[in-house]
Amino acid sequence: MLAEISAIFLLLRISDAATPEVLSCLRLEKSPLESPHSRVVHVEEDRPAYLHCSVPENTNHMVAWSRASDAALLIAGTETFTSDSRFQISIREADYVLIIRQSLPKDSGCYLCEVNTEPDSIIVPVYLNVSRKEPIVPQLMPKKPGKLLANMHGNEVVLNCTFSLDGGGGDEEVHWQKDDKIIDLNNTQKYVWKVKREAGILVHEVVIRGASDADDGEYACVRGRQKATQIVHVNLKAEAQTSRSFERRLTQAISFVSLGFLFV
Ligand SMILES: *[C@@H]1O[C@H](CO)[C@@H](O)[C@H](O)[C@H]1NC(C)=O
Ligand SMILES: *[C@@H]1O[C@H](CO)[C@@H](O)[C@H](O)[C@H]1NC(C)=O
Ligand SMILES: *[C@@H]1O[C@H](CO)[C@@H](O)[C@H](O)[C@H]1NC(C)=O
Repeated sequence: MLAEISAIFLLLRISDAATPEVLSCLRLEKSPLESPHSRVVHVEEDRPAYLHCSVPENTNHMVAWSRASDAALLIAGTETFTSDSRFQISIREADYVLIIRQSLPKDSGCYLCEVNTEPDSIIVPVYLNVSRKEPIVPQLMPKKPGKLLANMHGNEVVLNCTFSLDGGGGDEEVHWQKDDKIIDLNNTQKYVWKVKREAGILVHEVVIRGASDADDGEYACVRGRQKATQIVHVNLKAEAQTSRSFERRLTQAISFVSLGFLFV
């Protein structure tokens, strides 16, 4: 009864994964014994795969593991016949376990365990299916927004806008806005700007010279669909402070409300 149930279960399991490739592998079986182990092993890329092969107990049979695709002998007894050190054998009682440490999608396929019983060898096929690791869905994540930081240096406000170059936007130009109006960076009396590209990052820097409360507002740097904003408030009262705390207080006076976001 139990054997029947497990046979049905095994059939279900096999038909579950019954691609022609898997079936043609499992048909290579030549064994009088019902294997207690699954003949189809699913494992995720980089995980170890364990392929089991039980041999009749208390006998001294030679067990060999080979790969069906190229008929390469991998293991015979306890000897390894492949230069790929990911392949190992672990013998636990009557179970000869072929271990593939860090399995790769290319390892998918049919593996054969051969036991040299007399008069005919036992052949236990195991189909290994290594699925690719789920990518960290970069295309489904919102594209990286930019980041806009403001700092005070003397009487200048330094706006530092960083875009990741893989965050979309292609070769699109960066432009700057203050309160949703385009800033005329051609006005070099008021603004100095520079661009730096380094290791996948685009840094745009704009210096507002002679900052005053007229420069308060919400600043934004925009590149394609990426946009980063920062509210800047220049507190002129801070200028009256002693020189020691002058810069610190001015810096504090700038509100760091980082509102980096993406609009579609
Ligand atoms: C391997 O497994 C995946 C999903 O787990 C399945 O889509 C694919 O068909 C399987 N490949 C084979 C050859 O069975
Ligand atoms: C701008 O900010 C980035 C990181 O946010 C930093 O690596 C870079 O040095 C800054 N550049 C300037 C000119 O402050
Ligand atoms: C700045 O000058 C360039 C060329 O001199 C011009 O194409 C551009 O439109 C100007 N920018 C603004 C914001 O006026």
